[in-house]
Amino acid sequence: MNRRAFLKSGALTWAAVRAAADTQVPNLSEKSVRFGVVGLGNRGRHLLRLLMGFPGVQVPAICDLSEKALEAAAEVVIRAGGSPPARYSKAPNDYTAMLRRTDIDAVLIATPTKWHCPQAIAAMNAGKHVGSEVPAGFTLEELWELVRTKERTGRRYILLENYLYMRHNMMVLDMVRQGLFGELYYAECSYIHDCRFMLFKPDGSLDWWGEFARDSYGSDYPTHALGPVSKWFGLNEGDRMEYCTAMMSTPRVLKEYAARKFGPDSPQAKIDFAVGDYTSVLIRTASGKLIRVDYDVNSPRPESHFYLAQGTRGVYDSRKGIHFEGEGEKWTPAETYLTRYDHEYWRTAGAAAEASGHGGGDYFVIRDFVEMVREDREPWIDVYDAASWSSIYHCSRQSIDGRGASVDIPDFTQGKWKDASWRAGQLGPLRASRRA
Ligand SMILES: NC(=O)c1ccc[n+]([C@@H]2O[C@H](COP(=O)([O-])OP(=O)(O)OC[C@H]3O[C@@H](n4cnc5c(N)ncnc54)[C@H](O)[C@@H]3O)[C@@H](O)[C@H]2O)c1
Repeated sequence: MNRRAFLKSGALTWAAVRAAADTQVPNLSEKSVRFGVVGLGNRGRHLLRLLMGFPGVQVPAICDLSEKALEAAAEVVIRAGGSPPARYSKAPNDYTAMLRRTDIDAVLIATPTKWHCPQAIAAMNAGKHVGSEVPAGFTLEELWELVRTKERTGRRYILLENYLYMRHNMMVLDMVRQGLFGELYYAECSYIHDCRFMLFKPDGSLDWWGEFARDSYGSDYPTHALGPVSKWFGLNEGDRMEYCTAMMSTPRVLKEYAARKFGPDSPQAKIDFAVGDYTSVLIRTASGKLIRVDYDVNSPRPESHFYLAQGTRGVYDSRKGIHFEGEGEKWTPAETYLTRYDHEYWRTAGAAAEASGHGGGDYFVIRDFVEMVREDREPWIDVYDAASWSSIYHCSRQSIDGRGASVDIPDFTQGKWKDASWRAGQLGPLRASRRA
């Protein structure tokens, strides 16, 4: 989605979301739940708008370094009928002051990526549940600390990975669970989105996304790609990602882009960006399945997030459609299967979801977050998914450094994955599809 479309999706009115939530989810409990929100830029304000659309949600406090962002966010809360929220904006660690409040049950984190893990850990240590933007974190040390903090505090943690909830991804999930593709053994997934517009601030200095591209490389935004596939494969519940190998093409595009945008002699044109133009990771699971994760946020090409799931009896390819053994050389458009296999989430709340952005994913992930807090139950996208998917950044970097060497992926479940039913009590779409 480009920035214009993104902003447009963020321009949803509270009334529209609220009306949709009221009509589409009549059974949602109205027990009051109270959220603090940290990071109120484009993404944070959009998610805040969605959050305020659900019955019983209150937002007593918000936190951002920017007064302007806070003002716009406070306006969102007030327009949605909430009381003016308390504002925290003094310093980068001012969120800890917000966390001391006793009138907050959970925190939504939508700050730049490097803050996600420290802020989530601090929130759980302060007794709050967490909904964190993606990825969960970067280093293995911080991801282990995230998992251990969640286990020690008993708080709930959901990764707000919206791509899992897109209509076709959820339809495929149900088709996989019904065995239509046979046993899955190979998948392709990708995040391919020209995000060069996010590199520089209007004054020409690097924005946080640009600083990251300058300083880092590897598959640093893997969860949009890996999330849906992980659920189709049942990872962390009966199987797990065991090791990977990764390669990256040498950086070329960004230097040329900066020279064109700011002039060949500009300081920007002299920046040596570390991030490669195309990064590909090949993951092998404990049961011998393969997943290819492709990542490219800089090349001049239209957005295309493709997914493929190959099983012993058929295949789903988001670029081609669906094919089952015995059908000859024929692909059937995936839409055709919606009449029969549309997921219950989409059948019952499709209209509200479609209005929410990111192919409906934003609506459902926030709805699951609210339900997690309200019911105090484990979510579908738990801390183990969050840590293992996010660890692909570290593992891919190690592999790239070793010229495509094989790198072990940590088992954050510490062996629990061997029991396929250990997460049976989780909230979310699997419960819904079992009901269907
Ligand atoms: N899931 C998705 O589809 C999706 C889409 C867009 C962005 N995102 C994620 O959302 C996050 C935010 O992205 P964005 O586009 O809104 O960025 P942004 O730069 O527009 O907003 C970030 C906000 O965080 C504030 N901030 C920075 N450091 C802070 C701190 N220490 N404490 C409090 N506030 C702080 C900034 O002032 C800014 O207002 C990123 O992690 C991004 O990866 C996810």
